[in-house]
Amino acid sequence: MMKTDIMKLADQAKMHENVLTVMATVDTGFEWMAVDEYKEKLGSNAQYVKERGRIYFNLRQKDFSKVQDMRSIDNVYIVADASWLPFSGIMKGSELDSDLEIIRKFAKEKISLRRALDAWKEIVNFHGIMYPSLREYQDSDLALQRPKSPVHCARTKKRGLDPSSASKESLLRFRVTCERTGSHSFESQDVARIVGGELQDTFNWIVDLVQYHLQIVCHVKLGEIITSLRVTHESKHRRNIQFYGPTTLRSTICYSLIRLASPLPGDIIIDPMCGGGSIPLEAAIAFPNTYLLGGEIHCNAVDRARANVAAMNVDRKLDLIQWNLLHLPLKDSFVDIFVTDMPFGKRSGSITDNRVFYKKWLLEMGRVSKLGSGRLVLLTKDRRSIATALKMYGKLFRVTKTLGANIGGLQAAVYVLLRTNISWEDHKTVEHDAKRVKVQE
Ligand SMILES: C[S@@+](CC[C@H](N)C(=O)[O-])C[C@H]1O[C@@H](n2cnc3c(N)ncnc32)[C@H](O)[C@@H]1O
Repeated sequence: MMKTDIMKLADQAKMHENVLTVMATVDTGFEWMAVDEYKEKLGSNAQYVKERGRIYFNLRQKDFSKVQDMRSIDNVYIVADASWLPFSGIMKGSELDSDLEIIRKFAKEKISLRRALDAWKEIVNFHGIMYPSLREYQDSDLALQRPKSPVHCARTKKRGLDPSSASKESLLRFRVTCERTGSHSFESQDVARIVGGELQDTFNWIVDLVQYHLQIVCHVKLGEIITSLRVTHESKHRRNIQFYGPTTLRSTICYSLIRLASPLPGDIIIDPMCGGGSIPLEAAIAFPNTYLLGGEIHCNAVDRARANVAAMNVDRKLDLIQWNLLHLPLKDSFVDIFVTDMPFGKRSGSITDNRVFYKKWLLEMGRVSKLGSGRLVLLTKDRRSIATALKMYGKLFRVTKTLGANIGGLQAAVYVLLRTNISWEDHKTVEHDAKRVKVQE
């Protein structure tokens, strides 16, 4: 039988009492940031497996609160089981019946959930009936109702119940979902239906696709099937924002961007195009002892940012200001860190504007960034405009890192720049002289 890295990690956890395997989803492109944060908060020797959009690691159950404190990750799951199933092959429809039987047998006889279920109950504070008897299940009024399908409740925004709000008499309600990569003879719904049915028979739980306490996710990748229990009731990327705008950035991404700038106590951090304030707000919460400023050209966005900051009751110095960042009211060589999410030219700005705007903008950043130590972290989809701007003012900045990221389905890039020692005045003079020589020629 094939053993994947995740299976090996899960095997190691099982060898120790009270050690869990945890899976956390991460915004695609920022996986290394999550690994770094994990190492910092849970110990540098800790083992992990990194995949596109998620990381897996083992930890003692008593340390679970440290995972809840991580800010670069989105949803957190306990991995209950990691197995390899001998599916027939990659031809669609080839051995459907035998593959479905393999899944049924796995869910009925092989899947091992008990240890993870007990941990889940304790971590999420579920006080209801976790393992009802058949009698309790049959007596439950809810059990006689047909499960609500998501279609009936399409207007309900939030799915799932907060498990900690369950009364002592509540029987556990659950749903199973499946995420699948690779080619299989079966569909994802087949896995969810079969595993859900078998678990209902085993545990006498109530199936509820909308108002569930427990979500079980089966992640099928070729022959590997990882069964996880969702711990986070709400995605962590929504944690700071009450008033959303057209381009509001996830708080998880804001954290990773700020982290890329390695803020130090006393640093001045500015988002000069802050929209609804998601970057300064995250910085205020996650990086104490820094000074924060958010600027924005549109007064509606400034109002939204103020409302978001007020709603979070941030007990920190965070100023918001309406300005045009091409003319910053700041002295030369003053700012330690700029972190910003630039107009992509899709939902905000236009590609044609960006070509001119990015150049002017970079020059102004060159003026106010601290000589030799100022850092810029820029998120943009418009790589061409940033490349042209960097070519023009490349002497003012050195690119120390670039990474690709997926932002709401758009392929974006993050640039980390370090301000060089070349003074802005000297660069302007050299540039001016070069232009004059060109004109004379
Ligand atoms: C991609 S959005 C930023 C979204 C923000 N991170 C959030 O989460 O709400 C870019 C922002 O840049 C602002 N902007 C564009 N040109 C500007 C300028 N010259 N000065 C200041 N802000 C500007 C736009 O109004 C827009 O809100």
